[in-house]
Amino acid sequence: MRRVTKKVESHQHLSTKTFNVAVVGLSGSEKEKGCKGVGKSCLCNRFVRPFAGDYHKEHISVLSQTDFSGQVVNNDHWLYWGEVTKLVNEGTEVTFSVIEQTEFIDDSCFQPFKTGKTEPYYKRCAATRLCSTDKLMYICKNQLGIEKEYEQKYLNDGRFLVDAFVCVFDVSEVQGRSLDKAIEYTGLILNNLIKTKKPVVLVTTKHDEANEFYLREAEKLVNRKEFRGIVPIIETSAHNNINVDNAFITCFQLLDRNNDQLVTEKTQGTQPLE
Ligand code: GTP
Ligand code: MG
Repeated sequence: MRRVTKKVESHQHLSTKTFNVAVVGLSGSEKEKGCKGVGKSCLCNRFVRPFAGDYHKEHISVLSQTDFSGQVVNNDHWLYWGEVTKLVNEGTEVTFSVIEQTEFIDDSCFQPFKTGKTEPYYKRCAATRLCSTDKLMYICKNQLGIEKEYEQKYLNDGRFLVDAFVCVFDVSEVQGRSLDKAIEYTGLILNNLIKTKKPVVLVTTKHDEANEFYLREAEKLVNRKEFRGIVPIIETSAHNNINVDNAFITCFQLLDRNNDQLVTEKTQGTQPLE
């Protein structure tokens, strides 16, 4: 993969903050999520690697045992998507590091792989300390099995400390998924996320195919008394690259407002060319 970088002249001496975000949302087998996912992977892909040639519409979900235990998945139900640096406001660059919490399905029995832990997804996805030694950055579906042909980047120290959560809610109609159950499940996820006291944003996905009624239900969800004024809602389309950066930047701004000291400082002066 060819990567072109250039110096950001006016900002190259400014400090850059690293902000670790976990992207979560309804996950599981077809019984839970219907015939397709809510859009977590596409959102991560568009944010971390926004260029048209690097954007993939289909990502890993149902896997063989070999792929589940390979270095990218590494026997975890989460993916490390890598880092991207964005200018969040005049003079402030932030490096976002992104992981996705999902449920990988075994292609032999169509049930989630068993990893020893028994916690349901809506609790597990609120974890703030993740650990996975020698975990490789995920890029795309085709990477599995031929990892050496792609950029090989390992999760730093094999550790990821979550600073904030992006919770995804799909506003398109998906065969086999009921709106009521999706709302109920997302409510459970949000309840667990806010207990961590980390910033949480509800990101509605697939606005290029939005059903207005689904969007109204999502708005009602964040207006419940337990989430009102705490969980902002951001409308996105990963396919059309609408508002994706804004979703993550809003999340950063919540943290910046609430708790300045959590982010780590480092200096970095490059960014991808448009
Ligand atoms: P799991 O990790 O398997 O739970 O799924 P996910 O939540 O990561 O969903 P994923 O990003 O893999 O997307 C699931 C399906 O929705 C795919 O067919 C995507 O192409 C589609 N999809 C994702 N984002 C968009 C979008 O912005 N617009 C439209 N129309 N479809 C989308
Ligand atoms: Mg996914």
